[in-house]
Amino acid sequence: MVGTALIGAGYWGANLARNLAGNQRSTFEAIVDSDLEAAKALGERFGARPCATVEEILNDPAIQAVVVATPAATHGKLGLQIVSSGRHVMIEKPFATNLADAKAIVEEAVRQGVVAMPGHTFLYSEPVRFLRQLVQSGELGDPLYAYSQRLNLGRIRSDCDAMWNLAPHDLSIFDHLFDSPAVSVTASGGTFLQPSLADVVFGKLDYASGAVSHFHVSWLDPRKIRSVVVVGSEKMVVYDDVSSDRKVEIYESRAIAEVVKDGSEGAFDGAFDHAWQTRPGSIQIPRLTLEEPLSREIDDFVGACLNGNEPVATGLSGLRVASQLEALASSLETDGSTVEVLDHA
Ligand SMILES: NC(=O)c1ccc[n+]([C@@H]2O[C@H](COP(=O)([O-])OP(=O)(O)OC[C@H]3O[C@@H](n4cnc5c(N)ncnc54)[C@H](O)[C@@H]3O)[C@@H](O)[C@H]2O)c1
Repeated sequence: MVGTALIGAGYWGANLARNLAGNQRSTFEAIVDSDLEAAKALGERFGARPCATVEEILNDPAIQAVVVATPAATHGKLGLQIVSSGRHVMIEKPFATNLADAKAIVEEAVRQGVVAMPGHTFLYSEPVRFLRQLVQSGELGDPLYAYSQRLNLGRIRSDCDAMWNLAPHDLSIFDHLFDSPAVSVTASGGTFLQPSLADVVFGKLDYASGAVSHFHVSWLDPRKIRSVVVVGSEKMVVYDDVSSDRKVEIYESRAIAEVVKDGSEGAFDGAFDHAWQTRPGSIQIPRLTLEEPLSREIDDFVGACLNGNEPVATGLSGLRVASQLEALASSLETDGSTVEVLDHA
């Protein structure tokens, strides 16, 4: 068994607390919040001791693993403090708000022999697991490009912009699907509600393999959309997280080059000896067994703490996503200039 604690008794902390309390391989010991009343209220619901300071849990030998669900700007400092105390940590997205903090956490975790895991929840969702299997098995062919939309009206945050808040989901999904590092990025967007905090961002990532991905995130949009499309050389797939019965659709559609004889119909001009034919195919809707991703995520964290194995969401994936976000933020500040991704280990 692992003794766990949660820092942050807010909106997302309540979901984490429910899953920590329900996990069979750990005991949920304590909840910390700088607002002690919030810690008390959640602690009462899930049988965990309320605390007002982080030091209280870091001095408690019954606690070996900590989950951080506080505002983004606190993640770097709290994460480093926890791993430095020899405890395992799972940090909600964004893992950190800059690459240096993410690196410091991952390096200290390696020194201490503990787990530092980013809260990349979507890697535990059945549709993303299914998509990864499609890519890894070769069924999709070579992944050529992907794009995502994560749009809604709210929740508008003041601790970080819409990109740092929402895009970690998309970037972690792309990172999980493309077996190739993102090497450069561009981003542009719009800031309307609060000074210096973008409400909408359009980003692009270029991968070493030649693949590309685009994301569009916004908390100022009339519709709730959460979709990812991946186009492969053999098949194409659409993941619609909002749909209740068609979360994943596989299109057996592709473009193929057909050799054409001189002068035949279909040749674009004399310079080409082939023409592109599009082949729209059937659409499959796989039956997926949906399970709460957060429950799987917490169990993977606990398992990694107990057995020393790598969780699905590795510290290195946290580092890669932080590095991509830092590069994207720099592009956003410079009106969409191309920025190199520094760390794609
Ligand atoms: N994985 C997901 O799908 C998902 C969904 C929503 C939110 N989140 C993440 O969870 C984190 C928390 O988001 P939220 O919506 O719950 O925020 P929130 O504002 O509702 O709650 C944050 C809580 O942290 C407390 N807090 C702030 N600073 C603290 C500190 N230094 N020490 C102790 N407590 C502190 C606040 O009092 C508050 O109760 C964010 O990083 C967010 O991105 C993840």
